[in-house]
Amino acid sequence: MIATTDRYATEAGLRILEAGGNAVDAAVAACFALAVVNPEAGNIGGGGFLLARSPDGSLAALDFRSTAPGAATREMFGGRSDSSSGESSVLGHLSAAVPGSVRGLWDAHHRLGSRPWGEMLEPAVALARGFRVKGRLVASFSPSVLEGLREFPGSVRSFLPRRDGTEPSPPCVGDWFQQPDLARTLERIRDEGADGFYRGETADRIVDEMRDGGGIVTHDDLAAYQTAWRDPVQLGYRGWVVVSMPPASSGGATLAEAFHILEEFPLPELPWHGRDHVHLLAEAWRRAYADRNHHLADTDFVDVPMEALLTKSYAARRAETISWGIASTSREVHPGRVESAVPLGKDSESGNGHTTHVSVVDAGGGAASITTTLNTWYGSKVVVRGAGFLLNNEMDDFTVTPGVPNAFDLVQGEANVIEPGKRMLSAMTPTLVLKPEHALHMVLGTPGGATIITTVLQVISNVIDHEMTLPEAIHAPRVHHQHLPDRVSFEPRGLDDGVVARLREMGHRVEPASEPWGDVQAILRTPDGTLLGVSDPRRGGVALGF
Ligand code: DON
Repeated sequence: MIATTDRYATEAGLRILEAGGNAVDAAVAACFALAVVNPEAGNIGGGGFLLARSPDGSLAALDFRSTAPGAATREMFGGRSDSSSGESSVLGHLSAAVPGSVRGLWDAHHRLGSRPWGEMLEPAVALARGFRVKGRLVASFSPSVLEGLREFPGSVRSFLPRRDGTEPSPPCVGDWFQQPDLARTLERIRDEGADGFYRGETADRIVDEMRDGGGIVTHDDLAAYQTAWRDPVQLGYRGWVVVSMPPASSGGATLAEAFHILEEFPLPELPWHGRDHVHLLAEAWRRAYADRNHHLADTDFVDVPMEALLTKSYAARRAETISWGIASTSREVHPGRVESAVPLGKDSESGNGHTTHVSVVDAGGGAASITTTLNTWYGSKVVVRGAGFLLNNEMDDFTVTPGVPNAFDLVQGEANVIEPGKRMLSAMTPTLVLKPEHALHMVLGTPGGATIITTVLQVISNVIDHEMTLPEAIHAPRVHHQHLPDRVSFEPRGLDDGVVARLREMGHRVEPASEPWGDVQAILRTPDGTLLGVSDPRRGGVALGF
């Protein structure tokens, strides 16, 4: 069973499974396909995280997060709260970090895959030679995306083909969309492995693009890029075992603290999305995100108190400060540093999109869960000329300017400042849920920036605490709190008016979001062993199995 956000990518992975490939093979092939058909998020110019479980039950976590280039400095985007980074941390060459995706997929396949490497690339190469455009690609070309893409010649060439003397414009539904430069890059990766990206012609083209556009990624940065195998975070929740990503992802530690806090309360007995349920979720997240935003960062650079953050006793102390019936304020919840003058954030293009998740379970019981991103829609908006792929704008996930919210309104701390070679903190949360006896139960993940962690938590809690089926758990409206800004957000029409009023009486600031968020791809093994795959209806992906 495989679930992705796009039928072409799901089919690419399915064919690998049908040919006898394992879960990691299928996930790798699907990720390469997504780089072609879902270019706003799927990528070879970004980075991500893999969580895998082998049929024998062993677990592996691969960190292929992008890294800051060697010439990066903490002040490169201004760096002080009285300075403005303008748009350079989200748009253009300087916003691009050293991509990790190709090395990540290569290393994952090398250690955990079973089919030949070339097979991983074949579907993507074929799609890059041409595919029939569907509505979702067309919809991704929002006015602000087009404005950004138009600034860069490589992006115009790739995404805004000129048709019969008209202005450069994006493809339309039904067009046969060809990306020949990307096809050749994918062929180099197929034939030369990761070196087909980090060395030789592709690397030359990246460095040329950087030189012409004022970016700082060098040949040395590309050649030196390395992934990191890490120990997955494992936490217990009401007898289940949740396995998720350690730093440079904040997902595992934040999930752990929030779940541990919630375990102190009789969540399963509370009416779902009633006043007390939403209050407890918000208060748990307020505390977990306060710690996330302050403490978490790349553990290769910063001493992060992971052990303490992961203990139940720490969470129990945090839970003691939660009152029934009264909202805390983020100002008083340690260690959040709250300035009343903190602006509410840059205009975000959308709460949705720009990251993508793949979940796979194979016939042998192996599982793979990959979340990968360019950061915001179409990343930096820069397509590498002659190579046909987009560069990320991951530099904005660092603490670009202390005290100032990033593209996802996250106010992050000193631990996450820019340093050469460092990975910027991520919210990406590829996750597995195991039964008490460690048999596989669920595989899941989602895009959504800061909402990723709360979305993953809600889907798991909906299944475990509220006994929803997997489709119900994913379809159900979502709520969110991330410490700062101090507000409970909910998906449009996602909370009852009376509940909103009662939460406000308790002191919560409660606001509907302008649009739904997340795009969960999940698989659940039912008690009789059947695999149930669900792709979030919010975006229109598909799960397929055989
Ligand atoms: O790594 C992160 O946390 C962000 N770059 C993820 C961005 C994201 O999920 C955007 N999608 N909505």
